[in-house]
Amino acid sequence: MKILVVGSGGREHAIIKKLRESEGVTDIICAPGNGGIADLAECVSVSATDIDGMVKLAKERNVDFAVVAPDDPLAMGMVDRLEEAGIPAFGPDAKAAQIEASKVFAKELMQRANIRTAAAEVFTDPDKAKAYIKKTGVPTVIKADGLAKGKGVIIAQTEKEAEDAVDDMLCGGMFGNAGSRIIVEEFLEGTEASIMCFCDGKTVVPMISSQDHKRQYDGDLGKNTGGMGAFAPTPAYTEEIARDVEENILQPTVKAMRDMGCPFKGVLYAGLMLTKKGAYVLEYNARFGDPETQVVLPMLRSDLLKIMQACREGTLSECDIAWEKGGCCVVVMTSGGYPDKYENGFEIKGLADAESEKTWVIHAGTKRDGEKMLTSGGRVLGVCAKGDTVLTAVKSAYEAVEKISFHNAFYRRDIGGKIH
Ligand SMILES: Nc1ncnc2c1ncn2[C@@H]1O[C@H](COP(=O)(O)OP(=O)(O)O)[C@@H](O)[C@H]1O
Ligand SMILES: [Mg+2]
Repeated sequence: MKILVVGSGGREHAIIKKLRESEGVTDIICAPGNGGIADLAECVSVSATDIDGMVKLAKERNVDFAVVAPDDPLAMGMVDRLEEAGIPAFGPDAKAAQIEASKVFAKELMQRANIRTAAAEVFTDPDKAKAYIKKTGVPTVIKADGLAKGKGVIIAQTEKEAEDAVDDMLCGGMFGNAGSRIIVEEFLEGTEASIMCFCDGKTVVPMISSQDHKRQYDGDLGKNTGGMGAFAPTPAYTEEIARDVEENILQPTVKAMRDMGCPFKGVLYAGLMLTKKGAYVLEYNARFGDPETQVVLPMLRSDLLKIMQACREGTLSECDIAWEKGGCCVVVMTSGGYPDKYENGFEIKGLADAESEKTWVIHAGTKRDGEKMLTSGGRVLGVCAKGDTVLTAVKSAYEAVEKISFHNAFYRRDIGGKIH
């Protein structure tokens, strides 16, 4: 079978690595791909948001199955368009992808289906939003409705910060259309956990839990980033919590989507806050997370392509989905300066040395230049390891990180909770 994977980051590299183990996969095309993906797939330079270009590529190359991994093309309806063109595609259609692309859609769904989430109200009028903030107090959380590349959420500690966030989003056009509606919601305290699930519109099968580290610096300081590292499973997500989440959050979510006429097929990701009062949904994503995928998929013992096909065909309940014991960790190496200004084009050394039986390197922002591998993005590499426990995985990942170097490389030293 010939597979097309849409995207160019560490998540796509991890998906392709797993698909290479699937029975019957002969060719993989990745658009646009990256320097590391080029070892496992043919990279074709069609942008992930070029819907016409992607449909054309899939048809020209007789692709048997497409996997749309990033949020933007899903929200733009790439799966709808591929399916219309006769190409089986994994991922939600545009209607179902709203669960991520519109935080208002997701909040209203949760409120209707009685799914635990922060108390919230939706606003388009800045004065009304400010009056609500006066009434409910700080800290409070202001969220832009639409996709905002991980920058659409402001945790305001003071009333002034909250009011500024309202103005920036509703009047300043900070997020364009994505910010024309906002949510003001209750600040929740607890530990975060990510639960990704396979979904076929009716059945939902949770994967192992994971936790990512969004902030730039050790100790969760600095700016939010695309993700500086992750590990799986997360001990905070106990079996008891898992049962409650499945029954009271995941199944009701999938049912609500079906009842609304937009059954969810693909990967449903619930971002949870584990509070003293139980698990609350912070947000949903409509796809595999990055970098969570880099630590979850390596633990999957079953055939990923078969599961993806079952999600599309509605036969997930017949699928055998098994997970390895132990743990997995990824430490993200970034270009110094990320998520602000950084420079690219530096040679990466030590990549082969970092690979072992237990460790491997996922590429996020790299580019080939003859024999050399160059940095080509903010997040450059995800250095991964498996172990009998999460802690041994963390230790091995850091040992591998030590072997890799490039100019201005930066990474957090406390992924997995310890300082390394
Ligand atoms: N109600 C809340 N209470 C406390 N923290 C929150 C709340 N909502 C979001 N956050 C924090 O902000 C981060 C980003 O919010 P999220 O809803 O996941 O949006 P996005 O991933 O689209 O930026 C979360 O991972 C969490 O750390
Ligand atoms: Mg999030």
